This record gives sequence, structure tokens and C-alpha cells, in this order.
Amino acid sequence: MIRKAVQRLRRPAVQSRLRELVADVNARLPELIPPGEERPETVHEAMAYALLAPGKRLRPVLTLSVAEMFGEVTPRVLDLSCAIEMVHACSLILDDMPMMDDAELRRGRETTHRVYGEDVAILASFGLLNRAFGLAAERAQELTLSRYTSEDLIHLLTDAVGSRGLVGGQALDLEAEGEEIDLDRLEYIHSHKTGALFTAAAELGAMAVDARRRDLGAVTRFAKNLGLAFQIADDLLDVLSTTEETGKDSHQDEAKTTFVKLLGVPGAEALCGELLDFAMESLSGFGRKADPLRELAEVVRRRGRI
Ligand code: IPE
Ligand code: IPE
Ligand code: MG
Ligand code: MG
Ligand code: MG
Repeated sequence: MIRKAVQRLRRPAVQSRLRELVADVNARLPELIPPGEERPETVHEAMAYALLAPGKRLRPVLTLSVAEMFGEVTPRVLDLSCAIEMVHACSLILDDMPMMDDAELRRGRETTHRVYGEDVAILASFGLLNRAFGLAAERAQELTLSRYTSEDLIHLLTDAVGSRGLVGGQALDLEAEGEEIDLDRLEYIHSHKTGALFTAAAELGAMAVDARRRDLGAVTRFAKNLGLAFQIADDLLDVLSTTEETGKDSHQDEAKTTFVKLLGVPGAEALCGELLDFAMESLSGFGRKADPLRELAEVVRRRGRI
């Protein structure tokens, strides 16, 4: 049934809309951070280096696609989606640092700390995070909403990033290195280090256009499953793809417990597919309007780019 629904997608039109949204994000991001010539130059340059590198922009496009499902992509909503991408870029700088994953390559380029040094990389990461919160606060206040307050939108973001969200997941991910952990703990790690920001991205899109609470609930279920599936897909790529294909160090996770380690490649592929099917099911009440979200799930299924 789900497969049939996918076949009915007006695929080329939906794909080209998603690509337009990626282009909108890419055009807006450089306008939202301080120029590299402004003091402190090295930190501003490093912020731009990390943020403007060719990422897939899945999270901001998720925000925008959800917003478009219930309302309209306005310049304010676009800026909120860019704040999500800034948080993501901040998390990538830290994730790559020697004391964390010790990565050399990110988005086809040398990692930020290898180009600018660890000191500047940490400061750039904080710079991006703070810019993200500042921007989100400004834009959230400018929205006219009846169901949510601007504080609701900001809290959503702070909770997603904090120790009960991304930071918590990253902490337990590092602790688990070299340890044997069970499926339950692994699901906790994945759904926090990666799922939390996907969920916040989608919820922010719904709240920014004043979506009904019931619709917000469906969006949350979609994004939770999508986020978990995305991390499993990322772990599969780590094992199955080359550095040229992903633009980052492959076989990075050898010391880590992942779903691929616990279930094998076919088991992890099956689980990823099942989670994406669950994600699709939560869109069943939305008809064609949800086609961009269905297509995003297909991007994750094929482990590709928009
Ligand atoms: C990488 O995310 C970090 C994970 C949560 C696996 P992406 O694969 O979305 O990274 P970019 O933004 O495209 O570089
Ligand atoms: C990272 O997971 C999740 C983040 C919060 C950045 P990974 O460590 O698997 O991400 P990659 O593979 O380095 O992009
Ligand atoms: Mg990591
Ligand atoms: Mg990593
Ligand atoms: Mg990975």
C-alpha cells in the first residue's frame, strides 16, 4: 500500500520543489552569519567554512516542507530553518574533534579543526550555536501565532540540543565506545544524538505556521521515525560506502556499537526500511500535501541527497 502511494507521487514536481528549498537555504545561509572580514576574523571564517560547506540540508528542508504542508514558506520560516542548519553545523564541528570522533574529512573537505585549529573550531561551534538561538528568537517573536508562543519555539530548540537531547545522545555515544550495549540503549543514543534535531526541525516547521496540535503530533511521529532511520542509514553508509561517495571518513565507527553491528547489514537495512514505513504511515491523513515529506523519506531510504 505504501509502495503504491509512493508510485502515485508526482515525483519530478515534488523533487524539484525540494531542490528549490535546498537552493533557498543555500542562498540565505551566508547572509545570516557575520562576514569573514569582521573581527574576530578567524572565528567568523571558521563559522562560514563549517556552515556553508555542501551539506545535504535535510533538516532545514524538513522544517520548510512541514511548514508548507500546513501553511506557507515565508522569509521568517526560511530563517528558522537556517537556524536549525546552524545548530547542525555546530554539532558536526564538535563531533569531528579529536576527543570525539577524530575525523579528517567532512562534506568532502578537511574538518574545521584541521583547517583552523581546535581552539578556533570550538569557538566557531559556540558562535554558530549562539547565532542560531539569536536568530530563532528574533524570527519567532515576529510570527503571529494563536496556538504557540515564541518561547515554545525556542524551548523546542534548546531541549533538542541539550543534555536531554543531542548532547545527551553524543555523551552516551562516546561512553559506549568499545563497550557492548543492547538495542534499547542504542536506540536511546540514536534517537537523541540524531533524532532529537530531526524532530525539532519538523516540529518547528509546524509550529511556525500555527499548525493544529493534532497535526503537530503526526509530524512528531513522522520525524522520530525518520531521524532514527537516518542514523541507521548513516551507519550503513559508514560500512558500505567510500570516502569519495560520502565526503567523510568511512569505517569511522569500527569501535562503536551500531545497529549494523548488532543486526548485520541486512538486519539494519530491514529496520531502516521498517522505520521509514512507520514514518510514512503517520502521513496517511494528509493526502498529496505530504508528498514532499514522503519524498524526504525516500531520500533516506536510498541513502542519497535531495
Ligand atoms: C551527519 O548528518 C550527522 C549525522 C547525524 C549522521 P548529515 O549526513 O545530514 O550531514 P550533512 O549535513 O549532509 O553534511
Ligand atoms: C553524529 O553521528 C551525530 C551528531 C550529532 C553530529 P555520527 O558521528 O555517526 O555522524 P558522522 O558520521 O560523523 O556524520
Ligand atoms: Mg559521532
Ligand atoms: Mg562522527
Ligand atoms: Mg556516522
